[in-house]
Amino acid sequence: MAPDPLDGLRLHHIGIVVGELDAAAERYRRLGFGEPEWHDVTEQGVRVASFHAGPGHLELMMPTSPDSGIARYLASRGDGIHHVAYGVANLEDTLRRLSEAGFELIDREPRRGIHDWRVAFIHPRSCHGVLTELVEIDMGREQ
Ligand code: CO
Repeated sequence: MAPDPLDGLRLHHIGIVVGELDAAAERYRRLGFGEPEWHDVTEQGVRVASFHAGPGHLELMMPTSPDSGIARYLASRGDGIHHVAYGVANLEDTLRRLSEAGFELIDREPRRGIHDWRVAFIHPRSCHGVLTELVEIDMGREQ
């Protein structure tokens, strides 16, 4: 039997796109999260407030450039969940196995996400409408 292509995966973070990042961060702080880390990811045209959520993260993302993919997403759909991310031990292996299993990959090679994470995206068509991100993690520790 073929190995499960995501054997060992774990929930890593949820990305939420928002139009007003300061207000959204304050709202989530009131919900009970601590102080976020702030990241400007200029090359992706996005500013991020990243909260710890147990062993995972919650990422609020606001477009800073009108021609970014996030900006187009926000313009067409408004605030809401943008993607779900899972941690995997070996991203290259996982991408190769997913490709062989027929998943439609947006990134065939890992790239750098915020926090300098190595990430790759799977097309929503392959995940029942959910943009799905894979993050390479050290399975021995929480990140
Ligand atoms: Co993400």
